[in-house]
Amino acid sequence: MAFNKMWCTVALGLLLPFSYAHTDFFTSIGHMTDLINTEKDLVVSLKDYIKAEESKLEQIKKWAEKLDRLTDTATKDPEGFLGHPVNAFKLMKRLNTEWSELESLVLKDMSDGFISNMTIQRQFFPNDEDQTGAAKALLRLQDTYNLDTDTLSRGNLPGVKHKSFLTAEDCFELGKIAYTEADYYHTELWMEQALKQLDEGEVSSADKVYILDYLSYAVYQQGDLHKAMTLTKRLLELDPEHQRANGNMKYFEYIIAKEKEANKSSTDSEDQSEKETVVKKKDYLPERRKYEMLCRGEGLKMTPQRQKRLFCRYYDGNRNPRYILGPVKQEDEWDKPRIVRFLDIISDEEIETVKELAKPRLSRATVHDPETGKLTTAHYRVSKSAWLSGYESPVVSRINTRIQDLTGLDVSTAEELQVANYGVGGQYEPHFDFARANEPDAFKELGTGNRIATWLFYMSDVSAGGATVFPEVGASVWPRKGTAVFWYNLFPSGEGDYSTRHAACPVLVGNKWVSNKWLHERGQEFRRPCTLSELE
Ligand SMILES: *[C@@H]1O[C@H](CO)[C@@H](O)[C@H](O)[C@H]1NC(C)=O
Ligand SMILES: *[C@@H]1O[C@H](CO)[C@@H](O)[C@H](O)[C@H]1NC(C)=O
Repeated sequence: MAFNKMWCTVALGLLLPFSYAHTDFFTSIGHMTDLINTEKDLVVSLKDYIKAEESKLEQIKKWAEKLDRLTDTATKDPEGFLGHPVNAFKLMKRLNTEWSELESLVLKDMSDGFISNMTIQRQFFPNDEDQTGAAKALLRLQDTYNLDTDTLSRGNLPGVKHKSFLTAEDCFELGKIAYTEADYYHTELWMEQALKQLDEGEVSSADKVYILDYLSYAVYQQGDLHKAMTLTKRLLELDPEHQRANGNMKYFEYIIAKEKEANKSSTDSEDQSEKETVVKKKDYLPERRKYEMLCRGEGLKMTPQRQKRLFCRYYDGNRNPRYILGPVKQEDEWDKPRIVRFLDIISDEEIETVKELAKPRLSRATVHDPETGKLTTAHYRVSKSAWLSGYESPVVSRINTRIQDLTGLDVSTAEELQVANYGVGGQYEPHFDFARANEPDAFKELGTGNRIATWLFYMSDVSAGGATVFPEVGASVWPRKGTAVFWYNLFPSGEGDYSTRHAACPVLVGNKWVSNKWLHERGQEFRRPCTLSELE
């Protein structure tokens, strides 16, 4: 089975263009599960190799023991031993053929199967970019969810099923990646964590001298000269000959001497307080702070009075014949903009079908580059997505009809069903679904006008993180498997509703699957007649 699967993968690899080989694994758990299977197959192969090597050694051992006994007897009385004609014959035979056979056995390479499996699978392995991407995802999560380094390193996250922790070596690696990004804030945090774990006695190949070297630099870059000096001193205790550290030490002493002079001459305390407030964290846009707070479940802007006016109800799609007898459950999630959630609106079987259809086609989600007008990947949209058409499966077609029935909007002018899978750290930073006045060409080729409304299915629960948040209005909507949310992006006048700016929070633990339908203006003229006022 595993064997067959492997060859399928190989055949695909040969047929598709080379770029397929690199697929940004870290952006989607859907693709990473393939890697788990690859690894499992490799372990089987590795164990087969070990077995083969062990049985070879066993044979060699037996031969050695037999010869040991024999030579013992023979050397005690060589002449008497050889006096027996059979022993003489056997000696000739052993030396002429058996030792050569043994030599061949010793030289025999048992690693063929494993090495060829490795060679085949290696072309699908993640590369440096994937490793860096996964590391950056961890740093992003740390910020968004205010996790301290120790919590993250010990793996004490909410809702985790398979606890896992970082070694000092892993922490050092994360610190180095932050360092190459000139992100000294995270460099300091992770180098300190690595050092702490080593100080606590963790056995590791990570080297304190290297860690201190990075750490003191990161600390210095953030303006804490005295701490940088203390760390450099510690480094020099471990390695008194360290050239750069010795050089830095002299430099620090020089700067501090200069500062002292300045302190003496200026009695003004103004610039001191300025220096003390070392800017530790990167400067965030206010929106970013709002976004991150909402992701953590803080900063909701709902008043009890407004809350009282949010209801749940049975909804029949405005007397749609298909729903009169079996209306669906609908909840108000928010009032302005109005966001409603439909419950039990997509079955587990439908979800599985949609996921299976999408999986082979998942590719890194792209965004419009406003400068070139081309589609590109962007750090602010980290997920994988695929488009499914109603023609390819009755399930997709049924889903489209359901959206039409329940929204009262024509889905024939809508975009195809987009399926997205977010891996750990996967996110989509605040954005609008509709095209702004300054980008009239965004949906020109579709010829169906702007994106009037958004329908979003949650196709999985998420253990932690992964909310959909609206930073303008302070709303968060949490993923619940089998439900869907719906809102209008445009006012009835056709103007964009800026309060619909929203984001997909990074997934902290778990795997997030969603699918969405963007409905367009064309076809809705009689279904949602436009008005002149924005407010209606
Ligand atoms: C890969 O490993 C499996 C399991 O050990 C083995 O049966 C198979 O022959 C190997 N494949 C190749 C191409 O050597
Ligand atoms: C200069 O003054 C500030 C504020 O009192 C102090 O923190 C700093 O250590 C002083 N610098 C030196 C080199 O003494």
